[in-house]
Amino acid sequence: MGERKKFYITTPIFYVNDKPHIGHAYTMIVADILARWHRLRGEDVFFLTGTDEHGEKIQKSAIAAGKTPQEFVDGIVDRFKATWKALNISYDFFIRTTDENHIETVQKFISLLQQKGDIYKGEYEGWYCVSDETFLTELELVDGKCPYCGKPVERVKEESYFFRLSKYREALLDHYKENREFLSPSFRAQEIINRVKEGLNDLSISRTSVTWAVPFPGDNKHFVYVWLDALVNYISALGWPEGEKFREFWPADVHLIGKEINWFHSVIWPALLMSAGLPLPRMVFSHGWWTVDGKKMSKSVGNVVDPMDLLSRYTDDEIRYFLIRSMPIGQDGDFSEKALAERVNGELLADLGNLVSRIIAIADKADVSFLGENILEKEINIEKIDKAFEKVDINAALEEIWSFIRKMNKYVDSTQPWRLKGEELSEVMYNLLEGLRVLSILLYPFMPRTAEKIASQLGTEITSLDDCKFKPFNGKIRRGEHLFSLVKVP
Ligand code: MSP
Repeated sequence: MGERKKFYITTPIFYVNDKPHIGHAYTMIVADILARWHRLRGEDVFFLTGTDEHGEKIQKSAIAAGKTPQEFVDGIVDRFKATWKALNISYDFFIRTTDENHIETVQKFISLLQQKGDIYKGEYEGWYCVSDETFLTELELVDGKCPYCGKPVERVKEESYFFRLSKYREALLDHYKENREFLSPSFRAQEIINRVKEGLNDLSISRTSVTWAVPFPGDNKHFVYVWLDALVNYISALGWPEGEKFREFWPADVHLIGKEINWFHSVIWPALLMSAGLPLPRMVFSHGWWTVDGKKMSKSVGNVVDPMDLLSRYTDDEIRYFLIRSMPIGQDGDFSEKALAERVNGELLADLGNLVSRIIAIADKADVSFLGENILEKEINIEKIDKAFEKVDINAALEEIWSFIRKMNKYVDSTQPWRLKGEELSEVMYNLLEGLRVLSILLYPFMPRTAEKIASQLGTEITSLDDCKFKPFNGKIRRGEHLFSLVKVP
């Protein structure tokens, strides 16, 4: 037997200046689906998430809330964890950048870069966007404001340590060329490559004026720039440099991120890793952005959608399904509750829910053995789904699964099992029950609770992808409640 494959997937660590919204939830759900799929493949999975708790933005939010930064972040971290639990997110570890171990690791990492000769002291003079925690040049500003979030920027002129980012230009370009998957999806690669080709400025990695941060090693006037602190989470969570998990799981297979932080993950992070002499992740995958009713989500517009609020009207699986189904990963998507309710009543209730209740109702009453010729198995292409997952194309994977659901519905309509008896009934039901059993496994990453309900009504188990071949049905039918109920369309 060969060694079990490993799969290390990460999400960005989220700023805790405010509670989570559906944009954050989307990243978590995509990562959860990938993690669960790879577990079904029998791989050793490590799924990391957490919170980014230092920096000027959080320091200011804490002051505004009249709390100490630590009190302030503790409250919001609890809210993040509760939301992920309610959405059934199966992460393996939750890192907080205020963890003692993480702080020490960041300092160790910087010391290593210093030994490599990649850090020098200078002076930073330029602009800073607090909301994005980003240094900006005069040329980058748009109407004197941050080009990314449109908020006012502040002038910074202070002593700073710099990382020799410029030194890694060639090595980065070579890496992109030799590893086509690294910048994913591929249509996002060119903008990064072009910007790197234009040339790289060295990166300011310390501040003297921001004190809610990791102390810079060997200089008590300086504090570590929050993005350097944050990126190191991907290895500190594994116990770099000595940890067993680090040896087992590094490099990451997928850093899943939103497109707005691609530069940090596709340029700065790999350069830092090169400097430290560490292998680079296999893939940085940038997904698109959610707007709400056509507008950018923002507190001032008042259109921020809180997953906890949605959870008072919809189930975790309904929200998971909607967010994945409604936005091709990589593209942007627009959220509306009306569209959510329509998908629940349509695809979930009418396509899937009714299919399951019809089959279970007949099987429950049928006095036959479920045997016969295998007719439906050829209607589902598991390899195609698996290949889609390799490319993080979870929309294509879900589409293939849904097309099987539609074919099963057609098979029920055309065979009309409620009119059949004996061997004929036996054969149709064999196909439908095995079809459902396979479906329960394939749906599990997307809608774990629903998949478990299907398996429980069939009296089967959600095991692994190896069990997605039709075999003699050996479950025990137990009728259960309906999977979905009709919701009111707002
Ligand atoms: N703390 C940094 C990340 C550091 S990673 C080493 C950060 N945090 S954040 O709280 O702003 O979260 C950013 C992530 O949340 C995005 O990369 C994306 O995954 C998700 N989203 C935030 N708003 C979003 C939308 N409107 N739509 C989709 N996802 C978005 O940046």
